Parts: sequence; C-alpha cells; structure tokens
Amino acid sequence: MHVRIAVLPGDGIGPEVIREAVACLGQVARIFGHSFAFQSHPVGGYAIDAFNEPLPGATLDACLEADAVLLGAVGDPRHDGLPSGRRPESGLLALRKGLGAYANLRPAVLHPALVRSSPVREDVVRGTDLLVVRELAGGLYFGEPRSLDADRGVNTLAYSVPEVERVARYAFDLARRRRRKVTSVDKANVLEASQLWRRVVTQMAKEYPDVALEHLYVDACAMALVARPASFDVVLTDNLFGDILSDEAAVLTGSLGMLPSASLGGRVGLYEPVHGSAPDLAGKDLANPVGAIGSAAMLLRYSLGLEAEAAALEAAVGAALDQGFGTADLACQPARVGTRGMGEAIRQCLAKAAGKDAPAGNGGCCCGRGDLALPGHHVGVEGGPGASCASGAAPFHGEVPA
Ligand code: IPM
Ligand code: MN
Repeated sequence: MHVRIAVLPGDGIGPEVIREAVACLGQVARIFGHSFAFQSHPVGGYAIDAFNEPLPGATLDACLEADAVLLGAVGDPRHDGLPSGRRPESGLLALRKGLGAYANLRPAVLHPALVRSSPVREDVVRGTDLLVVRELAGGLYFGEPRSLDADRGVNTLAYSVPEVERVARYAFDLARRRRRKVTSVDKANVLEASQLWRRVVTQMAKEYPDVALEHLYVDACAMALVARPASFDVVLTDNLFGDILSDEAAVLTGSLGMLPSASLGGRVGLYEPVHGSAPDLAGKDLANPVGAIGSAAMLLRYSLGLEAEAAALEAAVGAALDQGFGTADLACQPARVGTRGMGEAIRQCLAKAAGKDAPAGNGGCCCGRGDLALPGHHVGVEGGPGASCASGAAPFHGEVPA
C-alpha cells in the first residue's frame, strides 16, 4: 500500500517524539511491504517564527491532500503574549477544525509493567483500560461570542443536537467493540449545554440496547477516575472536560507521555500524542515517545485500515516496556533510556517479532526539518513525493533552525 502522511512536528518535544514515530512507521512499512511517503510541514510556534501564522494555508492544504496527518505538539512560551487567535495553540485548533475532526479518541491503557509507575495504588489502578471520546470541534473552545478586553473575558459554551449526536455515535459504536459501557460526562446540574448533551446521549442509547449507559457529573468523574479507574470503558464528554479528564486518565497509566490520540470525523484523520510541547524537556533526549508512537499505531488502524500493522507496533511498545525500557518519566522502569533509546528499543522489538534484524542506528535518511523554511518543499521523502522513506531510519531530526 502506498500512502502519503503529512507530518507536523510542531514545537518543543514534538520534533523529537515524531522522529521516533516516523522511524517506527518506516520500519512497519519495510516489514509489511508498504510504501509510506512522509512530508513535513510547519505548525504552531515553529510556523509563527517562519511564516508569522500558526497554521499556514499551505500546511492545511497539504494535510487535506494527505492520507493521514501525524502531529507532535504545539505550544511555545515565547508566543504566550500573543492574542489567542494568533498563539501556537490556535494553529492546532484551526487544523482540527479544517480537517473536520470532531471525535477525539484517547485510549488510556495501563501496561502491566507500569503499575508501579502510576501515582495511583497498584490494587486500584490495575486493569485500567479506558477510552476517552472527546468532542473536538465545538464547546467552549469554539463558541461565539468570545472576546477579551481590559476588564472582561468572554467564552461561550454551546452545543447543538447534531454536534452531540455525531460524537456520541462514535462512543457507542466503539463501546460495542469493547466492554459495552459508555460513561457520559457533563455538568447537567448547572449548565444548559450539558442538559442538552445528556438528553441527546440518553436518546441515542435507545439505539444501543446492548450498551450500558451511565451519566456522571464532571467533578464526580474526576474523582472516580482516581478512585475506580478500572471500572471505566468508554468515557464520552465535551471538548473542555475531555481535555482535562484525558490528562488525568493519562497519568493513571504511568505518565502523560504514554497517551496517543486519533482525531476523526473528517476525510483525513489527525494523530497526535495527548501531551503538550513540554518546552523544558525539549532537545534533551528526555521526552517519552510512546504517546507519539502509539498515535502512529492509531494512524495505521484508523486511517489506513492496517490492523495487523497497528497491533504489531503496539505489541512492540508493550514488549519494550516488559523488557524494562522507559524514559525518565516512567520512574519504575529499570532500563532508563532517552527518547531515541526508547524508539530504538521499540523498533528492536518490532524487528524481533517480525523475525528480521532491526536497522542499525540512523540509516542516513536525508531530510532535515530546516528545509521547512521553503513553503511547499517536500522534506522527509527521498526522491520526492511518491518515493518511500521506509528505511527504518529517522527523517525528522528535530533541530529547530536558528
Ligand atoms: C490537547 C492540548 C490542546 C487542547 C491545546 C494544545 C490546544 O491540550 O490536545 O489536549 O487543549 O486541546
Ligand atoms: Mn490537553
């Protein structure tokens, strides 16, 4: 299968973790006989520096033309003073909107090797395997009116019936492939938008008599996530609550760096780790690439329909964790490695499972991210679009050009 993957490394630790994820995808392509062409594009603070806007039109166009989009992280404290529509984060929001992504899947699975890395007691957290389905295109993030002046800041929480229906359908359909339970999270004791949310979800549940539905207020859910995390299956919630609860769910599994995500609903899927740009860790080979690599696995599954390949990559992550490998955020892993070392350990496991040798080191792929200053220039693809960068080497070096 030949596919084109748009790669948006973004800011902070984004380029480092994406480099490992792309190298894993390259190795998957090699093992399974696919051809993946990667093209890198600017977004976030990196794009503000280069083009004075957080989502250049050429980046969005390239994403819309690709088969899938893999993103690192956005956010750069150097741009914190900008008005909200011009900050790095607004590039990500515009990208989600531009791709029509309204259902954000954030699976939080506790790997058995990491039970002692979780801040929650072993007997409580063991067995945690939940999926947050976060509404991604509406709610407080996008509601109008919104404004900020000297003495007043305004945001609007509004949901329409179709907006709730379309994301709820994702949650119920996904629950059918899991343990058939949906927990819908809202604040219906206070907010009208939540009352509508609850009404629509309750109505939809009638179409899914085989799926159990419970409603929780968001405050109670925040508590239950630490008190009884293993009791959750699918957690369906709005944009802001989903942002907050998914960080909480992530850390249950050992570290925020563990969680992948898929943003679906449009023609092109967007895949990104749940963690942020972590500027304090950037460039130090400290960041955990597992969330990014897990996002690459979700890309294989949801955008390319390559279930065996996705499962193989996820199994390789599990095997590397079983062998004790982990970055500094996974406190209890005995074999402490850096970002690159973790990626390499995962690729070794992938190669071993495939019965082939892992590629040695960085196989000398050509493409540097510094080339991004040229709009529309294809980087990350030896031989231009249509060629495969499936060497198992790492096309994205992550250097931020001066
Ligand atoms: C996330 C992030 C983003 C969000 C930011 C960077 C805009 O926190 O993906 O969870 O709030 O959605
Ligand atoms: Mn977040």
